[in-house]
Amino acid sequence: MRENAGTPTACSLAGQSAVVTGGAQGIGRAIAERFQQAGARVCILDCDNVAGEAAANELTAADPAHAVTFHRIDLEQIGAIAVAAGQIKSLYGKLDILVNNAGVELDTNFQQMTAALWDKVLAINLRAPFLLTQELEPLFPVAGGAVINISSIHATHAFAGSTAYACSKAGLVALTRNLALELAHRHIRVNAICPGYIDTRLWEEYLRQSPDAEALAANTAALHPLGRRGVPTDVANAALFLASDGSAFITGTCLVVDGGLTIRAHS
Ligand SMILES: NC(=O)c1ccc[n+]([C@@H]2O[C@H](COP(=O)([O-])OP(=O)(O)OC[C@H]3O[C@@H](n4cnc5c(N)ncnc54)[C@H](O)[C@@H]3O)[C@@H](O)[C@H]2O)c1
Repeated sequence: MRENAGTPTACSLAGQSAVVTGGAQGIGRAIAERFQQAGARVCILDCDNVAGEAAANELTAADPAHAVTFHRIDLEQIGAIAVAAGQIKSLYGKLDILVNNAGVELDTNFQQMTAALWDKVLAINLRAPFLLTQELEPLFPVAGGAVINISSIHATHAFAGSTAYACSKAGLVALTRNLALELAHRHIRVNAICPGYIDTRLWEEYLRQSPDAEALAANTAALHPLGRRGVPTDVANAALFLASDGSAFITGTCLVVDGGLTIRAHS
């Protein structure tokens, strides 16, 4: 079984500037690292100061020629998004790649879901990608660039207790298609990735709370035709492809990265 394949050589990002939201940990951090390895200058935007600083410091120490920068931002705050865009302009002067990855899943049973919680999930997962793309679009050069939105298989498949999250992720796929159309004349390609089960801290927490973590891990892996859950680099490799010239004729699509989980007739 292959995983964590190395950086595809056709996917160079040399000389490019990239922003990755939610890059302090998990999938976003793996994307930041992959982009750095492909030669990009990367700025992480995240609300977690400690993890954000640590990620930027560790990645920069691993490759000082391609320093990774961190700016703290709470993407739920509308006003903060314009401030962050100003910081990116001062830092790079231009932008080639934006990855809208930051997201939260705060749902409970839909009867217990409050309007405030609904608004928070939609604000971070859907409104922020819209506003950040709007603010950063002027920084893309005439040659264009790439926007990548990290959605989820929840956009297309129902899981109990996940209503607001699913709506936000389905909205993100719709946003992807519409922005792809509106930004095509600027040569900015806009695509989404729909990951399935990816081992991040949320999954680890879920396992820790299980009475039989070993059985849970084995059962979840067995749901996947490819026989395992995903790891953050699986998503990062897809993001690298969509950011690079290897996907130059691809826009408005959604790339499912789920080990085949959702192709089963009963999934
Ligand atoms: N892990 C999975 O199985 C999975 C599956 C499908 C989709 N996704 C999506 O992938 C993305 C990353 O997920 P992950 O598992 O790496 O999550 P994670 O919780 O490990 O990382 C998310 C990051 O987003 C940041 N963030 C959250 N709210 C923010 C805010 N208001 N402002 C700024 N930053 C904020 C967090 O601080 C964190 O660093 C999310 O959009 C998630 O919905 C994850």
